[in-house]
Amino acid sequence: MLEALGPDLARPVVMGADDSPPEETAIGRIFSETENVHKLRHYLPIYESVLARTERMLEIGVDRGGSLRMWREYLPKATIVGLDFNPKSAQYDAPQDDIHVRIGDQTDTGFLGRVLDEFGPFDTILDDGGHQPSQMIGSFQYLFPRLAPGGVYAVEDVCANYWTGYRDRSESFIDFARWLMDAMHAPYMKMSSVFEFMEGHPKRVREVEVPLAATIIDRIEVFDSVVVVHRAAEPKHLSRAAFR
Ligand SMILES: C[S@@+](CC[C@H](N)C(=O)[O-])C[C@H]1O[C@@H](n2cnc3c(N)ncnc32)[C@H](O)[C@@H]1O
Repeated sequence: MLEALGPDLARPVVMGADDSPPEETAIGRIFSETENVHKLRHYLPIYESVLARTERMLEIGVDRGGSLRMWREYLPKATIVGLDFNPKSAQYDAPQDDIHVRIGDQTDTGFLGRVLDEFGPFDTILDDGGHQPSQMIGSFQYLFPRLAPGGVYAVEDVCANYWTGYRDRSESFIDFARWLMDAMHAPYMKMSSVFEFMEGHPKRVREVEVPLAATIIDRIEVFDSVVVVHRAAEPKHLSRAAFR
């Protein structure tokens, strides 16, 4: 990595801890008043933008139920669904408050399918589950194509994949996010010049076969420890070049 960064970006500098009071935001205030929730502080402003249009939310990883309560407070009209493989998390099921908890494994697509049948399609999915790459990647592969158009899928704590205890396969979720970025560019792999997507040009390509991912990934945001993948509101078309 250091070699790729080059001498200026790789120069060693000191990064210190910060004990100043956290920024006052709506979600930050709810976070500080909620018990039994576990989030890195810098995630909160990221989630303000991720949750902006949420009507139906799924969180993978319920643990002690605090985050579901936090989403309930922040999104008073949304349906909040949590899943966890620990049966103890079932106690946080509160259908009277439109909070629903289902028990099962995030890598079991049969289970995920039943959750989708019952509550989906979701417009927001947050993976705060087991944090092993096979879990993060497996859930994403199944759930992202089933996310509502225009929806958003956030994967939390991708930092954990840098620790050996959270690396059950050689590729990390960050590696997978890089593949998603490549998939988003799949149409260009089938072309060799700008003329192939230039308006009115005889070489313009009208159709190419691409992986589904290329047509449904609108954009990918990589934050410190959180990857957010936005699903396109409509299936995407080949891009068009115009030179005037
Ligand atoms: C970090 S905690 C969730 C914390 C909660 N979202 C919060 O913010 O307070 C992770 C949870 O994921 C659950 N989990 C781990 N592996 C899982 C799997 N394969 N399927 C479903 N849940 C899993 C654990 O039981 C644990 O409760």
